[in-house]
Amino acid sequence: MHQLIEKALKTHSLNKEELVFLLREKQINDDLFVAADTVRKQFVGDAIYLRGLIEFSNICKNNCCYCGIRRDNKNVSRYRMEADDIVNLSAHAKELGFKTIVLQSGEDLYFDIPKMQDIISRIKKNGMKVTLSIGEKSFAEYKAYKEAGADRYLLRIETTDKDLYHQLDPGMQWEKRRQCLLDLRALGYEVGSGSMVGLPGQSLETIADDLLFFKELKIDMAGIGPFIPHPDTPLKDAPGKAFVLSLKVMALARLLLPDINIPATTAMEALHPQGRLLALQCGANVVMPNLNTEALRKRYDLYPGKEKAYDSLRNGLVDLQNKFRSIGRSISPDYGCHGDYLRSLSKK
Ligand code: 5AD
Repeated sequence: MHQLIEKALKTHSLNKEELVFLLREKQINDDLFVAADTVRKQFVGDAIYLRGLIEFSNICKNNCCYCGIRRDNKNVSRYRMEADDIVNLSAHAKELGFKTIVLQSGEDLYFDIPKMQDIISRIKKNGMKVTLSIGEKSFAEYKAYKEAGADRYLLRIETTDKDLYHQLDPGMQWEKRRQCLLDLRALGYEVGSGSMVGLPGQSLETIADDLLFFKELKIDMAGIGPFIPHPDTPLKDAPGKAFVLSLKVMALARLLLPDINIPATTAMEALHPQGRLLALQCGANVVMPNLNTEALRKRYDLYPGKEKAYDSLRNGLVDLQNKFRSIGRSISPDYGCHGDYLRSLSKK
């Protein structure tokens, strides 16, 4: 085993040059994946935590060059779900055994503070955890959602290369996004961030910076996935689809942040029929099945192949359980909160 992987196993710390070396070097891939799998087992165990994803609006005021639901894409059939439908779908998910609902949408100004508070508090009353993934908001908004009961928030930094971010996310400010993550942390959310791998103009150095950023912010969750070009976006001809590199970034995230939650992202499954299972064997411990109907899933079209990645839920949770069993893992009956995990350690 390469000495840098041994170092990472021991210290959970690598500098930028070391990360770039491991990202570049292909000979070490298998050892890196085994090391990440070992650390995952040691720190977070074999349990897989399910999060039920509800994509409740694909209306977005932003115009990110990579994203299929960007404002300027006129080929998207836009929708908003009704509050009652969101709450009922959550209740159905609870009956199926889900403990957490992830509410995700484009940045849709229709869902203001009272509307979100109503939805959050109704899902919370039913005894579920609520994760929000609805973009950049003011401190006051984040505070209001927290007061309504939201537990976690996902906001990917997308890339830590500021110039690249400003190119790809016109009208948005990288510093503002970082501040959002700090605000969420200050308000007591469990904070998830993450990045895309294989963006045009992204270097291995930048990817190393992304990993160091996650470590510096001590994030609780890291959602990492390959960039997949969407035909109705300005990046339609970019290569993307960096499947193996994405696995490596996830594996390195596990080595650097051994006890966090790492989802086997949908984009991995969109690129490879076993993408999610492979990710689960390279550091991941969370799966976020999509709860939406097939018709709506098709319309939440972030990138090609996304909606076909949910086959397993259609076939039922038993099918998912069987898939996990085939790699010696099972669905956890617990909430799987990183914050709870850390508190339990401090009590020991
Ligand atoms: N390929 C892969 N991931 C994408 N996302 C948006 N567009 C794409 C794409 N073309 C990711 C972004 C966003 C998350 C919801 O989906 O990282 O934060």
